[in-house]
Amino acid sequence: MRLFPPLKIQGRDIFIQIRHMCLMKLKGGLLVIDGKLLMIPGPTMVPERALQEGSKQVLFHRSTEFGKLFAEVNEGLQYVFQTQNPVLTFPAVGTGGLEATVANLFSPGDTILSVTTGVFGERFATIAKNFGLNVYKLDFPWGQAIEPDMIKKQLEQHSEIKAVFVTHNETSTGVVNDLVAIGKILRQFNVLYVVDAVSSLGGIDLQTDVWDIDVVITASQKALMSPPGLTFISVGPRAWEAVEKAKLPKYYWDFINARKYLEKKLPQNPYTPAVTLIASLNEALKMMREEGMDVIFNRHQRLAHAVRKGVEGMGLNLFAASNCYSNTVTAITVPEGIDGDAVRKIMSEQYNVVVAGGQASLKGKIIRMGHMGYVNEDNVLTALQALAAALQDVGYKGHVEDGLTKAKEILG
Ligand SMILES: Cc1ncc(COP(=O)(O)O)c(C=O)c1O
Repeated sequence: MRLFPPLKIQGRDIFIQIRHMCLMKLKGGLLVIDGKLLMIPGPTMVPERALQEGSKQVLFHRSTEFGKLFAEVNEGLQYVFQTQNPVLTFPAVGTGGLEATVANLFSPGDTILSVTTGVFGERFATIAKNFGLNVYKLDFPWGQAIEPDMIKKQLEQHSEIKAVFVTHNETSTGVVNDLVAIGKILRQFNVLYVVDAVSSLGGIDLQTDVWDIDVVITASQKALMSPPGLTFISVGPRAWEAVEKAKLPKYYWDFINARKYLEKKLPQNPYTPAVTLIASLNEALKMMREEGMDVIFNRHQRLAHAVRKGVEGMGLNLFAASNCYSNTVTAITVPEGIDGDAVRKIMSEQYNVVVAGGQASLKGKIIRMGHMGYVNEDNVLTALQALAAALQDVGYKGHVEDGLTKAKEILG
């Protein structure tokens, strides 16, 4: 086992046990720990099978061997995106996928509506502005979800809007938005539906075709259980029409060129792809097919529920409103008088569990625990135990044991 084993002892003893285990490591390797447990909202843990595939010798990217591998990957991507659309792969991070989408769909001076609920919605709007688009912004308070009716009002007032940008899962606040309800509004207008699904796809249901979403963007390092470095973009028929007309400059990101290579008998990339990352991804996608999407979504739902109940049981508050909790990341409000950064430092350095802090205006105010991709009950319990122990270490007086008991009840 790569990480320290699950801790089975109840109550306060757990913390002694954790400390003891870390001590054992210091004392000369009685315990094998070759990494920390990443419980951040990306990058996430990569399964051994996928790591091994990625560590094999590099393939020639124009060879039959690579073509077969890439064909399998493309089928796997269509499976997880729940689409028949081509899903384009670029060596890049999620932000590259967002930028590529803007560069391919629009012409200078086009108008879009960017609906924001946090840092990543803001980022998408900024990319569009930097590319010279006219950007209407519809901002919702951080911690709350999009109200679809407000989008309707904007679309009624501004007939020039060509596309609406939505973040499915706002990673900075732990909020999930209702893509079905939003889609019902958008389909009453002649606009493109563009979704940033970087921290949701593969962990929270997103039915690209059934929900009629024109462009969906994600990246490899989150719920897709793969190393960072690849972005994926599903482009539907309406979006392809826009791509054909779009005049913004691009070269590397050119969707039409990417599709041309994808449509070869054995698919390829226009340029040298990240061959080893694609090999790793292929294995992760196989694992996802073996598990099945419904089972994966249920696993995420169950683990997220346990995290939320565990955290609340410790006497802490969740940052997101209760009608929009994310199943891939939980934002925990740092209690008054507690130093959230100190808690995270202790969790990482003493207990080998890494969680994230708040971003932008939420810096120091929240702790974000990721629970997406290759994650199980033991990981969640270990993370909650480390959180409980670190909270006690910084003088938190709440009954952290109650939260652990609650989480264990849920996880059986
Ligand atoms: C919702 C969302 N969009 C975009 C991004 C940017 O992805 P990357 O860091 O891969 O550029 C992230 C990263 O956390 C994200 O969570």
